[in-house]
Amino acid sequence: AAADHSPAVIIGTGYGAAVTALRLGAAGVPTVMLEMGKLWNDPAEDGTTFSDMLSPDRRSTWFKDRTEAPLASFLWLDVANHDIDPYAGVLDRVSFGDMSVYVGRGVGGGSLVNGAMAVIPKRSYFEEILPRVDADEMYGQYFPLANSMLGTNHVDPEWFETSRAYRFARVSRKAAHRAGFRTTFVPSVYDFDYMRREEAELVPRSALASEVVYGNNHGKRSLDKSYLAAAVGTGNVTIRTLSEVRDITRQQDGTYVLEVRRIDELGNVLGVHQMSAKHLFLGAGSLGSTELLVRARDTGKLPELGEAVGRGWGTNGNVMLGRANHAWDPVGPLESGMPALGIDAWDRPDPVFAEIAPVPAGLETWASLYLAITRNPERGTFRYDPGADRAVLQWDVDQGQPSIDAAKRVFDRINSVEGTSYRYDLFGDTRAFETRFTYHPLGGLVLGEATDLYGRVAGYDNLYVTDGSLIPGSTGVNPFVTITALAERNIARILAEDVRRT
Ligand code: FDA
Repeated sequence: AAADHSPAVIIGTGYGAAVTALRLGAAGVPTVMLEMGKLWNDPAEDGTTFSDMLSPDRRSTWFKDRTEAPLASFLWLDVANHDIDPYAGVLDRVSFGDMSVYVGRGVGGGSLVNGAMAVIPKRSYFEEILPRVDADEMYGQYFPLANSMLGTNHVDPEWFETSRAYRFARVSRKAAHRAGFRTTFVPSVYDFDYMRREEAELVPRSALASEVVYGNNHGKRSLDKSYLAAAVGTGNVTIRTLSEVRDITRQQDGTYVLEVRRIDELGNVLGVHQMSAKHLFLGAGSLGSTELLVRARDTGKLPELGEAVGRGWGTNGNVMLGRANHAWDPVGPLESGMPALGIDAWDRPDPVFAEIAPVPAGLETWASLYLAITRNPERGTFRYDPGADRAVLQWDVDQGQPSIDAAKRVFDRINSVEGTSYRYDLFGDTRAFETRFTYHPLGGLVLGEATDLYGRVAGYDNLYVTDGSLIPGSTGVNPFVTITALAERNIARILAEDVRRT
């Protein structure tokens, strides 16, 4: 074995990884987590840890020389993006031709950059996508456990009605209701009490200072403050940052050997070393975990991996769109970075769950923005590109069309009742619907296909998948609660059956 050995190694520090670390640590298993991004705990001179959203600096973005914000333009002006120095920043946009995937980089993964919406899927839909997972157990035990561990909380409906920061959501709600659609409050892991105090100017602003996709300086219960803090608190879990796993091989005796590349925050390679593990858990996210196994299979390092590895990837049906508001319906210059309301049209023949999203631009935008989650049956496949030594996603732009069609039926009706139109100036050209990026990459190592029903990789003992790559391309709502709850369920079984206490 390599000199550097740990009984358990977890790759990544996102939701699946964090759950797994806490449960291994609490069971007394010495565990090392390897995270390619940095730990976000060292404030700059001005006291901020994360970059400002409106004038982003290098902390915003993972090694690019220009930011790549989701809303490319406003009135076709490229106002959103700024030149920056390459750095181990917190938000990455990974491009595969027709599809770009946003992911978080750093200790906490996506929890550092996401909108904090903590939504449990409709039970009937969950039973449809993962029919062989016991739904009674998930809804009775693991979803509630996930929410309590994540620190999910609810907006006070009375405050919501009066908050200036949610005027944008009330304007969108009025239009949805007039067209006959239902809206629902969305639970969050952003602390709504903190937000109230932000509005009252009692504490430094974060959600109310437009912060979200480049990290929140305050208020958000990201994983580093919940699961990962608890995991490290067991005394059995250590996190190594700026450490990217490049390769996985397996020795004759079954030990896994990882090639780990260490960098500094500027991207200089400090060295490549080997580390070994008895139990190896993949928590590098849908893109990261899938790439590692596609590479291992196709380079012959883990030759027993099957055809299911790399398949069943989807965007959770993501489609973004904006509507133009009437002049008499201003939303005001202050929009909370954290959504709190969604349009629930999931009961339709072509279901839509649309988050009413902020445009936290700090000025009146006359726009209502939505991130709609639809039931898009299209799936992509990852293939290994030996020249680039990278897994490449095969996804065609037309595969976004079912998402557009479903969203269009809902929002055409809203526009027709309101006498409003779409915004054509938000996505860099004149399209009204953006399906060329996703915030919700899911699948690639689907539960029950690339793995057994608990995430054990088919063909290999002591190799597990814990993250969003287990979910078959769609979960019908924002996915992190599903990922967390499924990871809780899986690690409970694996601890009981596979991992001997030390
Ligand atoms: P996740 O992607 O969180 O973590 C993977 C980690 O592994 C990362 O830290 C990465 O750096 C690391 N890694 C990858 N490859 C590696 C390697 N080879 N070696 C070492 N480390 C490696 N969801 C939701 O439910 N509600 C919401 O409001 C939102 N909003 C939202 C906004 C934005 C802007 C984004 C980008 C995403 C969201 N999401 C969301 C999605 C949510 O954040 C996402 O589904 C989860 O973070 C996925 O969790 P995972 O555990 O799968 O991996």
